Amino acid sequence: MSESSAAAAEAVAARFEELYGSAPDGVWAAPGRVNLIGEHTDYNDGFVMPFALPHTAVAAVSRRDDGVLRLHSADIGGPVVELTVDGLAPESDKRWTAYPAGVVWALREAGHAVTGADVHLASTVPAGAGLSSSAALEVVVALALNDLFALGLRGWQLARLSQRAENVYVGAPVGIMDQTASACCEAGHALFLDTRDLSQRQIPFDLAAEGMRLLVVDTQVKHSHSEGEYGKRREGCEKGAALLGVDALRDVPYDDLDAALARLGDDEEVRRLVRHVVTEDHRVEQVVSLLESGDTRAIGPLLVEGHASLRDDFRVSCPELDLVVDTAVSAGALGARMTGGGFGGSAIVLVEEGDVPTITKAVEEAFAAAGFKTPRVFEAVPSAGARRVR
Ligand code: GLA
Repeated sequence: MSESSAAAAEAVAARFEELYGSAPDGVWAAPGRVNLIGEHTDYNDGFVMPFALPHTAVAAVSRRDDGVLRLHSADIGGPVVELTVDGLAPESDKRWTAYPAGVVWALREAGHAVTGADVHLASTVPAGAGLSSSAALEVVVALALNDLFALGLRGWQLARLSQRAENVYVGAPVGIMDQTASACCEAGHALFLDTRDLSQRQIPFDLAAEGMRLLVVDTQVKHSHSEGEYGKRREGCEKGAALLGVDALRDVPYDDLDAALARLGDDEEVRRLVRHVVTEDHRVEQVVSLLESGDTRAIGPLLVEGHASLRDDFRVSCPELDLVVDTAVSAGALGARMTGGGFGGSAIVLVEEGDVPTITKAVEEAFAAAGFKTPRVFEAVPSAGARRVR
């Protein structure tokens, strides 16, 4: 553990003690993520390739056995929220507390005897930036309860339960990528995940060793998945799969794409959605084989293609994200694309180490010229997944 994360764990534990009157049983951390490639494929049983950010949600937690669940967030402030585990009900809570409470609900609903907890949370994952701040909150609570109640669940199982909390308790129809990334990623690697059976492969991804960097550009345009557009895309994909007679779009082979599109006739919207998902799954497989053969720079054009597909076919980009990609590529980036659900949030930019200042400046100037809010640019280093820190 780095000194700064040890200090963060100390601070969260100290605040817990002030709030609840005794030291926590432990402190856990779970990261946000960026997705290198494989967007809007996870709810189509497809492939994704996220890696964990150094930014984490940190939870100080003590176990309780009296059915009481107390929640507090350093980021939201305000008083401690007190609930009872028996009283938890899906979609009854529109506050931030729905994420941790939803995890308790999902664990109990799956038959795990979670009998209450005191929780204090603090997160450095930017909220609403497409970097999975909600998944980090869910997974850190799931991991803490897994340890404190000796549930013996594996990372992928904690991810599934966290996704269920978000789908059913919070009411957002997200896929499995973000929670699995937060639970299962490893430092120095990207996670190649098959979202159908959750089989995983850790792919070494050490850009610094090869003289490159990956920048995250947070456009500061806020997005929210529970607000309809995400669900509409998901329904359109399900419609496409039904029309093609497959369980999920993952089952349409890339080589059969033209034939499949012809079978969809003149339903232009469904054709676009299907084309994105099938080509994006193919791009993930191409990126994996390039990385495994040590040809890292060659992934750049695939990132740019992926962005065009999200912009033109899937239609989840926005002017700010397009501006990051166009500007960065014109300024010499190896590749760039939006990352996460879209409609705002963040883009990633793959650059040669020496180009970081010029490309950052080009993006900032383009934003200023367009009258957009100043973006936040930082470097993403593939970091560790969820773990106990104290
Ligand atoms: C959000 C969702 C994920 C995934 C991405 C798009 O981050 O939480 O499940 O669908 O959008 O790839």
